[in-house]
Amino acid sequence: MPSLSNAAVRDIETVIHPYTNLDAFRGTGPMIIERGEGIHVWDADGRKYIEGLAGLWCTSLGYNEPELIEAATQQLKQLPFSHVFGGKSHERAAELAEKLKASAPHKASKVLFCGSGSEANDQQVKLVWYYNNALGRTKKKKFISRLRGYHGVTVASASLTGLTPNHRDFDLPLDFARHTDCPHYYRYAEPGETEDEFTTRLAANLEKMILEEDPDTVAAFIAEPIMGAGGVVIPPEGYFQKIQAVLDKYDIYMIADEVICGFGRTGNMFGSQTFGIKPDSISVAKALSSAYVPIAAVTVGEDMYQAMIDESKKLGTFGHGFTYTAHPVAAAVAVKTLEIYEKRNIVGHVRAVAPRFEERIRRLGEHSLVGHARAKGLLGAIELVADKETKRSFDAKAGVGAAVQKTAEKHGLILRALGGDIVAFCPPLIVKDTDIDDIFDRTETALNETEAWIAKEGLRDA
Ligand SMILES: Cc1ncc(COP(=O)(O)O)c(C=O)c1O
Repeated sequence: MPSLSNAAVRDIETVIHPYTNLDAFRGTGPMIIERGEGIHVWDADGRKYIEGLAGLWCTSLGYNEPELIEAATQQLKQLPFSHVFGGKSHERAAELAEKLKASAPHKASKVLFCGSGSEANDQQVKLVWYYNNALGRTKKKKFISRLRGYHGVTVASASLTGLTPNHRDFDLPLDFARHTDCPHYYRYAEPGETEDEFTTRLAANLEKMILEEDPDTVAAFIAEPIMGAGGVVIPPEGYFQKIQAVLDKYDIYMIADEVICGFGRTGNMFGSQTFGIKPDSISVAKALSSAYVPIAAVTVGEDMYQAMIDESKKLGTFGHGFTYTAHPVAAAVAVKTLEIYEKRNIVGHVRAVAPRFEERIRRLGEHSLVGHARAKGLLGAIELVADKETKRSFDAKAGVGAAVQKTAEKHGLILRALGGDIVAFCPPLIVKDTDIDDIFDRTETALNETEAWIAKEGLRDA
């Protein structure tokens, strides 16, 4: 093992790393990223990489957008902090709320800001509970999310998340959360089942769950238009329409978690538009500020807002808010980010380059290691399998997805291996056709080298 640099040792001895095997990490140390430009980042040894996952699905405008830097600098000089508690405000808050309201994929009345996607979904839970208390529906409190969905890591949002590592030994999920089927046709369709039959079955299962729980106790449903961390699961055509019909039947509030899909990623401003979802509210974060500063938000419809007013009348205050709610520097950067999306027609750009992205992913599907390849807009994944015919997975301990990620890094490309040997692609939205070719040429090389390693280690037969 190469000896660790001083910077690596300092990191190991001081920083706790999320989503990392903390034991193995003590031996390997971190990959320290030092600077970024456009779609590239450089590590501490001066190696250059394409950021194929836009950081954590978030740096939509790349790494050195001067207008965002200027917006932050100006705001820092003018008013580095102010807040929106107790009736105080600052101009950036309303400016950003107006823009979000105007672009939201539903009739938004107001916007409640916060700092992260997890906080946004936490707020969703609190608002729905508050709303139903205001209406006297005191039993209507349960949330239904989906297995493999990802909604964050706070106590409430992690409960909505449908992934075992976010629950196990954290004593989660809490009792208000239920998890219904994941719409991953490739993995969960029954033999011979068509996509239409599959989505009909999932909607029927959802209805069964609601009836078993008692519809008077089920308050809300939350879903990502495309599941991200759970494996870039793109739902089959018609899925959301069938799900939504069930939700409407039982008066269940529909929340679209647009934390990854929001702001152009799927070829529309919101994933809800791409999939015909009609949400009552959305959660946004990440690309809201191109991730340059932490900021997130939930939109609030008029009914919800009126209920909040009633509660305020009754209780004397809306007893919620973070010190950094609508932080002015974050809001200024977000306002500028949304302006840039508009003036540079980022959605149009995504639509222009997406066919190449989707085609190059589709071609990876022909590789001997790839069981399933999928993409929508500039979001995609390949699912690695030991046997394409039977869809048999590799032994998780073999770390085949992680090996592709590591090999790609050797070739100057950062990707993300998710559970189930799924490798995700989510480049900054500013990628050009030539960048897309570069990403997939390097991925092909990484797959070929991983295939050679698998053969040498005999992992296919293990
Ligand atoms: C769909 C979705 N929701 C919520 C979150 C949580 O956001 P954060 O990490 O900012 O708390 C994420 C993070 O990846 C996400 O992908």
